[in-house]
Amino acid sequence: MGVLERNPLTLQKLSLSAGLLFSILIAAQGFDFFYFVQQWPGSFCDISSSCCYPVTGKPAPDFSIHGFWPNNNDGTYPFNCDLANAFNASKISDLNGGLTTHWPSLACPSSNGESFWQHEWLKHGTCSESILDEHAYFKAVLSLRGSIDILGALQKARIQPNNGMYSFTSINNALTNYLAHTPGIECNSAANGQNQLYQIYVCVATDATTLIDCPILPQSHCSSQLLFPSF
Ligand SMILES: *[C@@H]1O[C@H](CO)[C@@H](O)[C@H](O)[C@H]1NC(C)=O
Repeated sequence: MGVLERNPLTLQKLSLSAGLLFSILIAAQGFDFFYFVQQWPGSFCDISSSCCYPVTGKPAPDFSIHGFWPNNNDGTYPFNCDLANAFNASKISDLNGGLTTHWPSLACPSSNGESFWQHEWLKHGTCSESILDEHAYFKAVLSLRGSIDILGALQKARIQPNNGMYSFTSINNALTNYLAHTPGIECNSAANGQNQLYQIYVCVATDATTLIDCPILPQSHCSSQLLFPSF
């Protein structure tokens, strides 16, 4: 104590690091909302790094799950919150059919999806484990996928994965009308350089169920006209 009193700089340093530690603890345990992210498989496969179909074969031409990501209102997000909470495939074996259909991995080499689900659980899922255990997390994601039909909503607005060009505005309007909330729309580049529709971010409250207005939208990288490639 005497040493600290004689050295105010040390005290200042101490309280600074206590504050930092506190922020890290808060960041590791709390978050404001989820991004439910779906991807268009055609836009994952026609990029320069290409893709590999799952061992079960080519997935249906439909949006598939990329992830369910705890996020903060300021755009930051917690990740790798509890690497000790290992992914255990047998805890979600009853969900295997739905996961194989709606959450396939298109990464190379071909796989049955388990390593993708494990990666997503460890990086993102463990950050919501105070609310959802592993089974509840994957069940919540499948249930959201079951109630949100992005492709159906686009097709109703005559926006089809037919290698056509569509305006960002028409895609945004179709999805905003359907969801009653504006989604995040992310584009990437096809191997030929064409800007294309890649991922849709739907914002979900921390109950893992209720759709909300996005507190912050992800980077879009979209041009005013986008390719919607076939798959
Ligand atoms: C994985 O989960 C199953 C079913 O809950 C359980 O019996 C098993 O002990 C778990 N394995 C590990 C390594 O925790």
